[in-house]
Amino acid sequence: MKISVFGLGYVGMVNIACLSKVGHQVYGCDVKQHKVDLINQGKSTVFEPGVSEMMEEAHEKELVKASSDAELCVANSDIALLCVGTPSDVEGNVNLSYILNVTRDIIKALKKLDKPFTIVYRSTIPPGTIDNQILPVISPYFESLSHKPKIVFLPEFLREGNAVKDFFECARIVVGVDENENAKDQLTELFSFNQNIPIHFTNYRTAEFVKYVDNAYHATKVSFANEIYSIGSSMDVDIVTANKLFLSDDILNISTKYLIPGMPFGGSCLPKDTRALIHMGIKNEVDTPFIRGIFESNNAHKQRIVEKVLKFEKDKIFLYGITFKQDTDDIRESPFIFLLESLIAKGKQVRVFDDRLNLTSLRIEFPHLVQYIHDDLNELVKWSDLIILNNKNYENVLAALDSSKSVLNCLNNNDISTNNIIIENLY
Ligand SMILES: NC(=O)c1ccc[n+]([C@@H]2O[C@H](COP(=O)([O-])OP(=O)(O)OC[C@H]3O[C@@H](n4cnc5c(N)ncnc54)[C@H](O)[C@@H]3O)[C@@H](O)[C@H]2O)c1
Repeated sequence: MKISVFGLGYVGMVNIACLSKVGHQVYGCDVKQHKVDLINQGKSTVFEPGVSEMMEEAHEKELVKASSDAELCVANSDIALLCVGTPSDVEGNVNLSYILNVTRDIIKALKKLDKPFTIVYRSTIPPGTIDNQILPVISPYFESLSHKPKIVFLPEFLREGNAVKDFFECARIVVGVDENENAKDQLTELFSFNQNIPIHFTNYRTAEFVKYVDNAYHATKVSFANEIYSIGSSMDVDIVTANKLFLSDDILNISTKYLIPGMPFGGSCLPKDTRALIHMGIKNEVDTPFIRGIFESNNAHKQRIVEKVLKFEKDKIFLYGITFKQDTDDIRESPFIFLLESLIAKGKQVRVFDDRLNLTSLRIEFPHLVQYIHDDLNELVKWSDLIILNNKNYENVLAALDSSKSVLNCLNNNDISTNNIIIENLY
Protein backbone atom coordinates (compact mmCIF):
# COMPACT_ATOMS: atom_id res chain seq x y z
CA MET A 1 0.00 0.00 0.00
CA LYS A 2 1.08 3.62 -0.46
CA ILE A 3 0.73 5.34 2.90
CA SER A 4 1.44 8.85 4.11
CA VAL A 5 2.06 9.53 7.80
CA PHE A 6 1.46 13.04 9.14
CA GLY A 7 3.41 13.87 12.29
CA LEU A 8 6.89 12.44 12.72
CA GLY A 9 6.89 12.13 16.52
CA TYR A 10 6.73 8.92 18.57
CA VAL A 11 3.58 7.50 17.04
CA GLY A 12 4.27 8.60 13.47
CA MET A 13 7.85 7.33 13.60
CA VAL A 14 6.90 3.90 14.92
CA ASN A 15 4.13 3.60 12.33
CA ILE A 16 6.50 4.52 9.52
CA ALA A 17 9.17 2.05 10.63
CA CYS A 18 6.74 -0.83 11.20
CA LEU A 19 4.68 -0.30 8.05
CA SER A 20 7.81 -0.12 5.89
CA LYS A 21 9.11 -3.26 7.61
CA VAL A 22 6.11 -5.18 6.24
CA GLY A 23 6.71 -3.78 2.75
CA HIS A 24 4.51 -0.69 2.48
CA GLN A 25 5.73 2.48 0.74
CA VAL A 26 5.54 5.29 3.27
CA TYR A 27 5.73 9.06 2.87
CA GLY A 28 6.23 10.96 6.12
CA CYS A 29 5.15 14.57 6.60
CA ASP A 30 6.00 17.07 9.32
CA VAL A 31 6.11 20.83 9.64
CA LYS A 32 9.51 20.47 11.32
CA GLN A 33 12.14 20.29 8.59
CA HIS A 34 14.80 18.67 10.81
CA LYS A 35 12.51 15.65 11.34
CA VAL A 36 11.88 15.41 7.58
CA ASP A 37 15.64 15.51 6.97
CA LEU A 38 16.30 12.73 9.49
CA ILE A 39 13.80 10.44 7.78
CA ASN A 40 15.32 11.15 4.37
CA GLN A 41 18.71 10.16 5.80
CA GLY A 42 17.25 6.85 6.96
CA LYS A 43 17.22 7.87 10.61
CA SER A 44 14.64 7.87 13.35
CA THR A 45 13.34 11.13 14.83
CA VAL A 46 12.92 9.52 18.29
CA PHE A 47 14.66 6.95 20.40
CA GLU A 48 12.59 3.80 20.39
CA PRO A 49 14.11 0.30 20.53
CA GLY A 50 14.23 -1.32 17.07
CA VAL A 51 13.11 1.73 15.10
CA SER A 52 16.55 2.97 13.96
CA GLU A 53 17.41 -0.47 12.55
CA MET A 54 14.12 -0.68 10.68
CA MET A 55 14.62 2.84 9.30
CA GLU A 56 18.09 1.94 7.98
CA GLU A 57 16.64 -1.09 6.24
CA ALA A 58 13.72 0.91 4.82
CA HIS A 59 16.13 3.57 3.55
CA GLU A 60 18.21 0.94 1.75
CA LYS A 61 15.09 -0.49 0.13
CA GLU A 62 13.86 3.03 -0.69
CA LEU A 63 10.56 2.40 1.04
CA VAL A 64 10.46 5.60 3.09
CA LYS A 65 10.62 9.26 2.14
CA ALA A 66 9.53 12.43 3.89
CA SER A 67 8.57 15.99 3.07
CA SER A 68 7.06 19.04 4.69
CA ASP A 69 4.85 19.41 1.63
CA ALA A 70 1.47 17.89 2.52
CA GLU A 71 0.31 17.87 -1.10
CA LEU A 72 3.33 15.83 -2.18
CA CYS A 73 2.64 13.29 0.57
CA VAL A 74 -1.02 12.99 -0.39
CA ALA A 75 -0.07 12.67 -4.07
CA ASN A 76 2.19 9.75 -3.19
CA SER A 77 -0.32 7.82 -1.08
CA ASP A 78 -3.82 6.35 -1.06
CA ILE A 79 -4.23 6.48 2.68
CA ALA A 80 -2.97 8.99 5.27
CA LEU A 81 -2.35 8.24 8.93
CA LEU A 82 -2.62 11.34 11.10
CA CYS A 83 -0.28 11.10 14.08
CA VAL A 84 0.06 14.74 15.11
CA GLY A 85 -0.09 15.81 18.74
CA THR A 86 -3.31 16.44 20.67
CA PRO A 87 -1.91 18.03 23.85
CA SER A 88 -4.24 18.94 26.70
CA ASP A 89 -4.08 22.18 28.68
CA VAL A 90 -3.98 22.29 32.49
CA GLU A 91 -7.75 21.94 32.67
CA GLY A 92 -7.75 18.94 30.34
CA ASN A 93 -9.11 20.64 27.21
CA VAL A 94 -7.71 18.84 24.18
CA ASN A 95 -6.02 21.04 21.59
CA LEU A 96 -7.35 19.86 18.24
CA SER A 97 -5.68 22.58 16.16
CA TYR A 98 -2.92 20.31 14.78
CA ILE A 99 -5.43 17.65 13.76
CA LEU A 100 -7.67 20.23 12.08
CA ASN A 101 -4.72 21.91 10.31
CA VAL A 102 -3.56 18.62 8.79
CA THR A 103 -7.13 17.75 7.84
CA ARG A 104 -7.42 21.05 5.95
CA ASP A 105 -4.03 20.47 4.27
CA ILE A 106 -5.15 17.05 3.05
CA ILE A 107 -8.50 18.30 1.76
CA LYS A 108 -6.74 21.15 -0.06
CA ALA A 109 -4.44 18.62 -1.70
CA LEU A 110 -7.36 16.36 -2.63
CA LYS A 111 -9.14 19.26 -4.32
CA LYS A 112 -6.22 19.42 -6.74
CA LEU A 113 -5.54 15.70 -7.03
CA ASP A 114 -9.14 14.48 -7.00
CA LYS A 115 -8.56 10.80 -6.26
CA PRO A 116 -9.98 8.14 -3.92
CA PHE A 117 -8.41 8.61 -0.50
CA THR A 118 -8.74 7.44 3.09
CA ILE A 119 -7.95 9.69 6.04
CA VAL A 120 -7.10 7.71 9.16
CA TYR A 121 -6.86 9.51 12.51
CA ARG A 122 -4.39 7.84 14.89
CA SER A 123 -4.03 10.70 17.39
CA THR A 124 -5.97 10.43 20.63
CA ILE A 125 -9.15 12.54 20.38
CA PRO A 126 -12.22 12.82 22.65
CA PRO A 127 -15.46 11.02 21.69
CA GLY A 128 -17.44 13.09 19.21
CA THR A 129 -14.37 14.79 17.67
CA ILE A 130 -14.84 13.22 14.23
CA ASP A 131 -18.61 13.77 14.24
CA ASN A 132 -18.65 17.27 15.71
CA GLN A 133 -15.30 18.86 14.86
CA ILE A 134 -13.72 17.13 11.90
CA LEU A 135 -16.68 16.31 9.65
CA PRO A 136 -18.14 19.84 9.83
CA VAL A 137 -14.74 21.21 8.75
CA ILE A 138 -14.31 18.89 5.78
CA SER A 139 -17.80 18.00 4.61
CA PRO A 140 -18.40 21.39 2.88
CA TYR A 141 -15.60 20.38 0.49
CA PHE A 142 -17.09 16.99 -0.32
CA GLU A 143 -19.33 18.35 -3.07
CA SER A 144 -16.40 19.72 -5.03
CA LEU A 145 -14.57 16.36 -4.85
CA SER A 146 -15.56 13.59 -7.22
CA HIS A 147 -14.26 11.07 -4.66
CA LYS A 148 -15.47 11.65 -1.14
CA PRO A 149 -12.60 10.64 1.21
CA LYS A 150 -13.26 7.84 3.65
CA ILE A 151 -12.78 8.81 7.29
CA VAL A 152 -11.47 6.31 9.83
CA PHE A 153 -10.44 6.49 13.47
CA LEU A 154 -7.72 4.05 14.43
CA PRO A 155 -6.57 4.58 18.03
CA GLU A 156 -2.94 3.85 18.74
CA PHE A 157 -2.30 1.80 21.87
CA LEU A 158 1.48 1.46 21.74
CA ARG A 159 3.67 2.14 24.76
CA GLU A 160 6.87 4.10 24.35
CA GLY A 161 9.83 1.79 24.96
CA ASN A 162 7.84 -1.24 23.81
CA ALA A 163 6.23 0.32 20.77
CA VAL A 164 7.48 -2.01 18.02
CA LYS A 165 6.29 -5.13 19.84
CA ASP A 166 3.01 -3.40 20.67
CA PHE A 167 2.56 -2.54 16.99
CA PHE A 168 3.12 -6.05 15.69
CA GLU A 169 1.61 -8.03 18.57
CA CYS A 170 -1.10 -5.89 20.14
CA ALA A 171 -4.07 -7.52 21.92
CA ARG A 172 -6.61 -6.07 19.51
CA ILE A 173 -7.10 -3.41 16.88
CA VAL A 174 -10.04 -1.06 17.25
CA VAL A 175 -11.29 0.78 14.18
CA GLY A 176 -13.95 3.49 14.17
CA VAL A 177 -15.72 3.66 10.81
CA ASP A 178 -18.76 5.11 9.15
CA GLU A 179 -20.86 2.08 8.27
CA ASN A 180 -21.75 3.69 4.92
CA GLU A 181 -18.15 4.01 3.76
CA ASN A 182 -16.47 0.76 3.00
CA ALA A 183 -13.07 1.28 4.58
CA LYS A 184 -13.01 -2.12 6.29
CA ASP A 185 -11.15 -4.00 3.54
CA GLN A 186 -8.41 -1.37 3.39
CA LEU A 187 -7.92 -1.43 7.16
CA THR A 188 -7.91 -5.21 7.25
CA GLU A 189 -5.24 -5.18 4.53
CA LEU A 190 -3.18 -2.66 6.51
CA PHE A 191 -2.97 -5.09 9.42
CA SER A 192 -2.70 -8.28 7.38
CA PHE A 193 0.88 -8.78 8.67
CA ASN A 194 -0.49 -10.50 11.77
CA GLN A 195 -3.68 -12.48 11.20
CA ASN A 196 -3.87 -13.37 14.90
CA ILE A 197 -4.75 -9.84 16.01
CA PRO A 198 -8.54 -9.45 16.19
CA ILE A 199 -9.84 -6.32 14.46
CA HIS A 200 -12.96 -4.77 15.99
CA PHE A 201 -14.93 -2.34 13.84
CA THR A 202 -17.19 0.06 15.69
CA ASN A 203 -18.48 3.63 15.37
CA TYR A 204 -16.23 6.69 15.71
CA ARG A 205 -17.28 7.66 19.24
CA THR A 206 -16.75 4.25 20.73
CA ALA A 207 -13.31 3.89 19.16
CA GLU A 208 -12.39 7.41 20.29
CA PHE A 209 -13.49 6.63 23.85
CA VAL A 210 -11.81 3.22 24.14
CA LYS A 211 -8.38 4.82 23.97
CA TYR A 212 -9.16 7.00 27.01
CA VAL A 213 -10.64 4.03 28.88
CA ASP A 214 -7.43 2.06 28.39
CA ASN A 215 -5.15 4.86 29.51
CA ALA A 216 -7.29 5.83 32.51
CA TYR A 217 -7.31 2.18 33.56
CA HIS A 218 -3.55 1.93 33.33
CA ALA A 219 -3.15 5.14 35.35
CA THR A 220 -5.66 3.76 37.88
CA LYS A 221 -3.67 0.56 38.25
CA VAL A 222 -0.44 2.47 38.88
CA SER A 223 -2.05 4.76 41.47
CA PHE A 224 -3.81 1.86 43.18
CA ALA A 225 -0.68 -0.26 43.39
CA ASN A 226 1.47 2.62 44.67
CA GLU A 227 -1.00 3.60 47.39
CA ILE A 228 -2.01 0.15 48.55
CA TYR A 229 1.55 -1.09 48.89
CA SER A 230 2.63 2.16 50.59
CA ILE A 231 0.06 1.40 53.29
CA GLY A 232 1.31 -2.20 53.51
CA SER A 233 4.91 -1.07 53.60
CA SER A 234 4.17 1.28 56.50
CA MET A 235 2.89 -1.76 58.40
CA ASP A 236 5.92 -3.97 57.71
CA VAL A 237 4.11 -6.17 55.19
CA ASP A 238 6.26 -8.20 52.78
CA ILE A 239 5.17 -6.19 49.74
CA VAL A 240 6.80 -8.36 47.08
CA THR A 241 4.99 -11.45 48.34
CA ALA A 242 1.72 -9.58 48.89
CA ASN A 243 1.87 -8.28 45.31
CA LYS A 244 2.62 -11.75 43.91
CA LEU A 245 -0.33 -13.17 45.82
CA PHE A 246 -2.61 -10.39 44.61
CA LEU A 247 -1.57 -10.98 41.00
CA SER A 248 -1.95 -14.75 41.32
CA ASP A 249 -5.74 -14.46 41.61
CA ASP A 250 -6.95 -14.33 38.03
CA ILE A 251 -10.53 -15.11 38.97
CA LEU A 252 -11.41 -12.02 41.00
CA ASN A 253 -8.35 -9.74 40.75
CA ILE A 254 -6.76 -9.86 37.31
CA SER A 255 -9.97 -10.53 35.46
CA THR A 256 -13.08 -8.88 34.08
CA LYS A 257 -14.81 -9.17 37.47
CA TYR A 258 -15.84 -5.83 39.00
CA LEU A 259 -15.15 -4.08 35.69
CA ILE A 260 -18.64 -4.10 34.21
CA PRO A 261 -20.39 -0.77 34.84
CA GLY A 262 -23.56 -1.07 36.89
CA MET A 263 -24.68 -0.31 40.45
CA PRO A 264 -22.44 1.24 43.14
CA PHE A 265 -20.73 -1.22 45.45
CA GLY A 266 -22.21 -2.06 48.83
CA GLY A 267 -22.52 -4.96 51.24
CA SER A 268 -20.51 -5.70 54.31
CA CYS A 269 -16.95 -6.20 53.04
CA LEU A 270 -16.03 -3.70 50.34
CA PRO A 271 -17.14 -0.56 52.21
CA LYS A 272 -15.96 -1.79 55.62
CA ASP A 273 -12.52 -2.94 54.53
CA THR A 274 -11.84 0.02 52.27
CA ARG A 275 -12.75 2.32 55.16
CA ALA A 276 -10.39 0.36 57.42
CA LEU A 277 -7.56 0.67 54.89
CA ILE A 278 -7.98 4.44 54.69
CA HIS A 279 -7.81 4.53 58.48
CA MET A 280 -4.62 2.42 58.43
CA GLY A 281 -3.12 4.93 55.98
CA ILE A 282 -4.03 7.87 58.21
CA LYS A 283 -2.65 6.14 61.31
CA ASN A 284 0.62 5.40 59.54
CA GLU A 285 0.85 8.84 57.93
CA VAL A 286 0.44 7.51 54.40
CA ASP A 287 -1.64 9.88 52.32
CA THR A 288 -4.03 7.89 50.12
CA PRO A 289 -6.08 10.34 48.05
CA PHE A 290 -6.81 7.69 45.44
CA ILE A 291 -8.23 5.15 47.89
CA ARG A 292 -9.98 7.87 49.88
CA GLY A 293 -11.62 8.96 46.63
CA ILE A 294 -13.28 5.56 46.27
CA PHE A 295 -16.13 6.57 48.61
CA GLU A 296 -16.57 9.93 46.92
CA SER A 297 -16.82 8.10 43.62
CA ASN A 298 -19.26 5.51 44.93
CA ASN A 299 -21.47 8.17 46.52
CA ALA A 300 -21.50 10.18 43.30
CA HIS A 301 -22.58 7.04 41.49
CA LYS A 302 -25.40 6.41 44.00
CA GLN A 303 -26.62 9.91 43.23
CA ARG A 304 -26.41 9.27 39.46
CA ILE A 305 -28.67 6.23 39.88
CA VAL A 306 -31.22 8.34 41.78
CA GLU A 307 -31.11 10.94 38.97
CA LYS A 308 -31.58 8.20 36.41
CA VAL A 309 -34.72 6.94 38.18
CA LEU A 310 -36.10 10.47 38.59
CA LYS A 311 -35.68 11.09 34.85
CA PHE A 312 -38.45 8.55 34.21
CA GLU A 313 -40.81 11.08 35.83
CA LYS A 314 -42.91 8.28 37.33
CA ASP A 315 -44.59 8.48 40.73
CA LYS A 316 -45.40 4.88 41.63
CA ILE A 317 -42.13 3.05 41.82
CA PHE A 318 -41.83 -0.65 42.52
CA LEU A 319 -38.39 -1.62 43.75
CA TYR A 320 -38.04 -5.32 43.07
CA GLY A 321 -35.17 -6.19 45.40
CA ILE A 322 -33.28 -4.07 47.92
CA THR A 323 -30.43 -6.36 48.96
CA PHE A 324 -27.02 -5.06 47.93
CA LYS A 325 -26.74 -7.57 45.07
CA GLN A 326 -28.38 -10.70 43.68
CA ASP A 327 -28.37 -14.00 45.52
CA THR A 328 -27.94 -12.57 48.98
CA ASP A 329 -30.24 -11.40 51.76
CA ASP A 330 -27.64 -8.86 52.94
CA ILE A 331 -28.89 -5.28 53.06
CA ARG A 332 -25.84 -3.75 54.72
CA GLU A 333 -24.78 -0.60 52.85
CA SER A 334 -27.06 -1.62 49.98
CA PRO A 335 -27.17 1.07 47.28
CA PHE A 336 -30.85 0.16 46.86
CA ILE A 337 -31.55 1.29 50.43
CA PHE A 338 -29.98 4.64 49.50
CA LEU A 339 -32.13 4.69 46.36
CA LEU A 340 -35.29 3.88 48.33
CA GLU A 341 -34.61 6.60 50.90
CA SER A 342 -33.74 9.16 48.23
CA LEU A 343 -36.89 8.46 46.24
CA ILE A 344 -39.04 8.73 49.37
CA ALA A 345 -37.32 12.05 50.17
CA LYS A 346 -38.24 13.23 46.67
CA GLY A 347 -41.91 12.55 47.43
CA LYS A 348 -42.22 9.42 45.30
CA GLN A 349 -44.51 6.55 46.28
CA VAL A 350 -42.24 3.54 46.56
CA ARG A 351 -43.09 -0.06 47.34
CA VAL A 352 -40.68 -2.93 47.75
CA PHE A 353 -40.86 -6.66 47.23
CA ASP A 354 -37.87 -8.85 47.99
CA ASP A 355 -38.26 -12.59 48.54
CA ARG A 356 -34.64 -12.83 49.75
CA LEU A 357 -34.97 -10.12 52.33
CA ASN A 358 -34.25 -10.83 55.98
CA LEU A 359 -37.08 -8.83 57.57
CA THR A 360 -35.58 -9.14 61.04
CA SER A 361 -32.42 -7.36 59.84
CA LEU A 362 -34.50 -4.68 58.16
CA ARG A 363 -36.52 -4.14 61.37
CA ILE A 364 -33.30 -3.74 63.35
CA GLU A 365 -31.21 -1.74 60.86
CA PHE A 366 -33.87 0.27 59.03
CA PRO A 367 -37.11 0.17 61.06
CA HIS A 368 -38.45 3.22 59.20
CA LEU A 369 -38.36 1.28 55.92
CA VAL A 370 -40.44 -1.73 57.00
CA GLN A 371 -43.66 0.07 56.02
CA TYR A 372 -42.56 0.04 52.36
CA ILE A 373 -42.27 -3.77 52.15
CA HIS A 374 -45.14 -5.58 50.43
CA ASP A 375 -45.73 -9.25 49.78
CA ASP A 376 -47.94 -9.45 46.69
CA LEU A 377 -45.70 -9.27 43.66
CA ASN A 378 -48.51 -9.23 41.08
CA GLU A 379 -50.35 -6.47 42.89
CA LEU A 380 -47.18 -4.37 42.93
CA VAL A 381 -46.63 -4.81 39.21
CA LYS A 382 -50.23 -3.70 38.57
CA TRP A 383 -49.92 -0.74 40.97
CA SER A 384 -46.61 0.64 39.71
CA ASP A 385 -45.70 2.72 36.70
CA LEU A 386 -41.93 2.16 37.03
CA ILE A 387 -40.32 -1.13 38.04
CA ILE A 388 -36.68 -1.31 39.12
CA LEU A 389 -35.26 -4.79 38.71
CA ASN A 390 -32.76 -6.02 41.27
CA ASN A 391 -33.84 -9.65 41.54
CA LYS A 392 -32.93 -12.25 38.98
CA ASN A 393 -36.30 -14.01 39.40
CA TYR A 394 -37.85 -11.43 37.15
CA GLU A 395 -39.72 -13.75 34.74
CA ASN A 396 -43.04 -13.48 36.57
CA VAL A 397 -42.67 -9.70 36.72
CA LEU A 398 -42.05 -9.53 32.98
CA ALA A 399 -45.05 -11.82 32.37
CA ALA A 400 -47.33 -9.45 34.32
CA LEU A 401 -46.17 -6.27 32.52
CA ASP A 402 -48.23 -4.20 30.14
CA SER A 403 -47.06 -1.42 27.83
CA SER A 404 -47.95 1.33 30.33
CA LYS A 405 -45.04 0.27 32.54
CA SER A 406 -41.42 1.40 32.41
CA VAL A 407 -38.65 -0.90 33.56
CA LEU A 408 -35.12 -0.07 34.71
CA ASN A 409 -32.89 -3.13 34.78
CA CYS A 410 -30.16 -2.92 37.46
CA LEU A 411 -29.08 -6.55 37.15
CA ASN A 412 -25.93 -6.29 35.03
CA ASN A 413 -27.64 -8.58 32.56
CA ASN A 414 -28.56 -6.74 29.40
CA ASP A 415 -30.22 -9.77 27.81
CA ILE A 416 -33.56 -9.23 29.52
CA SER A 417 -36.31 -8.54 27.03
CA THR A 418 -40.04 -8.81 26.51
CA ASN A 419 -42.09 -8.50 23.37
CA ASN A 420 -43.78 -5.18 23.84
CA ILE A 421 -41.99 -3.39 26.69
CA ILE A 422 -38.78 -1.45 26.41
CA ILE A 423 -36.46 -2.37 29.25
CA GLU A 424 -33.88 0.27 30.00
CA ASN A 425 -30.52 -1.00 31.16
CA LEU A 426 -28.23 0.99 33.46
CA TYR A 427 -25.58 0.82 30.72
N1 LIG B 1 3.47 8.90 22.54
C1 LIG B 1 2.77 7.83 22.79
O1 LIG B 1 3.21 6.87 23.44
C2 LIG B 1 1.38 7.70 22.24
C3 LIG B 1 0.75 6.45 22.25
C4 LIG B 1 -0.52 6.35 21.72
C5 LIG B 1 -1.16 7.47 21.21
N2 LIG B 1 -0.54 8.68 21.25
C6 LIG B 1 -1.24 9.83 20.65
O2 LIG B 1 -0.71 10.02 19.33
C7 LIG B 1 -0.64 11.41 19.00
C8 LIG B 1 0.79 11.79 18.66
O3 LIG B 1 1.59 11.58 19.80
P1 LIG B 1 3.18 11.71 19.72
O4 LIG B 1 3.69 11.38 21.08
O5 LIG B 1 3.69 10.97 18.54
O6 LIG B 1 3.32 13.30 19.45
P2 LIG B 1 4.65 14.11 19.13
O7 LIG B 1 4.47 15.44 19.77
O8 LIG B 1 5.86 13.30 19.47
O9 LIG B 1 4.62 14.28 17.54
C9 LIG B 1 3.68 15.06 16.86
C10 LIG B 1 4.32 15.55 15.57
O10 LIG B 1 3.31 16.19 14.79
C11 LIG B 1 3.94 17.23 14.07
N3 LIG B 1 2.97 18.17 13.50
C12 LIG B 1 2.27 19.15 14.11
N4 LIG B 1 1.51 19.81 13.21
C13 LIG B 1 1.70 19.22 12.02
C14 LIG B 1 1.20 19.44 10.71
N5 LIG B 1 0.31 20.42 10.45
N6 LIG B 1 1.63 18.64 9.71
C15 LIG B 1 2.52 17.67 9.95
N7 LIG B 1 3.05 17.41 11.16
C16 LIG B 1 2.64 18.17 12.19
C17 LIG B 1 4.86 17.84 15.12
O11 LIG B 1 5.87 18.66 14.54
C18 LIG B 1 5.41 16.59 15.79
O12 LIG B 1 6.61 16.15 15.14
C19 LIG B 1 -1.22 12.13 20.22
O13 LIG B 1 -2.59 12.34 20.02
C20 LIG B 1 -1.00 11.16 21.36
O14 LIG B 1 -1.93 11.34 22.41
C21 LIG B 1 0.72 8.82 21.73
